[in-house]
Amino acid sequence: MDPAQFIEYKDFEEHARASLSKMVYDYVASGAGSEWTLRENERAYYRWCFRKRILADVSEIDLRTRVLGQELAFPIMIAPTAFHRMAHPDGELATARATANLGTLMVLSTLSTQPIEAVAAAGGEKYQGWFQLYIHKSRSLTEELATRAEAAGFQALVLTVDTPFFAIRYADQRNGFTLPPGCEMANLRANLPEIPGRSGLAVYADTQMDSSLTWEDVAWLGSLTNLPLVLKGITTVADAKRAVAAGASAIIVSNHGGRQLDGDIASLDALSVVVEAVDDACPVLVDGGIRHGADVLKALALGAKAVLVGRPVWWGLAAGGEEGVCRILEILRDGLADAMGLSGVAQIADVGRQLVMSIPVGGDHH
Ligand code: FNR
Ligand code: LAC
Repeated sequence: MDPAQFIEYKDFEEHARASLSKMVYDYVASGAGSEWTLRENERAYYRWCFRKRILADVSEIDLRTRVLGQELAFPIMIAPTAFHRMAHPDGELATARATANLGTLMVLSTLSTQPIEAVAAAGGEKYQGWFQLYIHKSRSLTEELATRAEAAGFQALVLTVDTPFFAIRYADQRNGFTLPPGCEMANLRANLPEIPGRSGLAVYADTQMDSSLTWEDVAWLGSLTNLPLVLKGITTVADAKRAVAAGASAIIVSNHGGRQLDGDIASLDALSVVVEAVDDACPVLVDGGIRHGADVLKALALGAKAVLVGRPVWWGLAAGGEEGVCRILEILRDGLADAMGLSGVAQIADVGRQLVMSIPVGGDHH
């Protein structure tokens, strides 16, 4: 099927469910535990509505924005997600090309299935990217990853702070999740084990990744690199303030797409309080549950500088590699422009808190 025929998020999602293997689809779509947080992430967007202004000259809508000094054509970035080759043979090369073509950026996962250097090269002249780091027990390996990312031209390091280990995810246990043939962790020297009844990813992390991390390790990482350090996975005011004090250049409000602490607050609900606490000390970004352009506008109105999307990109990859990823990003981008224009806002800088109102009783769309 030609990705141009996909009109909205659910077309992609349905196609991916039918075309990916059950093990891969479940790994991407599922969350931790009862999946309450996974569902809440999407539901939270239905608890806010717009307070539009009319007759505001929206003949020219400008979506451009800057984050950490980098120009984005629109404020939607690709969240770091592992193992893109499970959805398309080009893997992260396809996602990198899509972002370079459209003028946005991807946060490349430590667990990518294409090497750091090849991903940067695939993006070409216009490539912008950040690198997401999982700190391993082997500090020399961790240092090597940070150094490689900086040398390859990545412009920020994103430390994921909500993952001391991988949460219990029933679907992955049931499927004995591991990497399918032909996919490997291209930046690392190990592979996921295959153990019936267990998640190979969880087992890998238990043996290789460092669950003893504290704020001291954030300082250690900062001392290793010249790149701005972004902390991803903060959901409380106290941690946001601590992150600012620790010198974070940006914060990503995130609960890992409902894949880590089941019962954690919906990321949109955490956003406004974090934004208020950070008080412009650094940009605040958000991810989790964003499926429509209007969701992006709600997050911006509540103070996010930009948003990131995870699962939508996977469904795009499954629909047709680079082209599919471009298509889903374009749908989100065009949906954002639509929501802005119809609510009387022509520029990102003019999106403000007065644009949205919370709905006390909650929506029942789902
Ligand atoms: C993730 N996420 C993630 N985060 C991270 O820091 N490093 C990683 O390697 C991964 N891997 C990963 C794989 C898959 C399949 C998913 C779905 C997610 C979390 C990701 O960055 C982001 O926080 C969520 O995906 C955002 O939620 P939505 O947009 O998927 O609802
Ligand atoms: C996940 C990882 C890899 O959520 O962060 O599956």
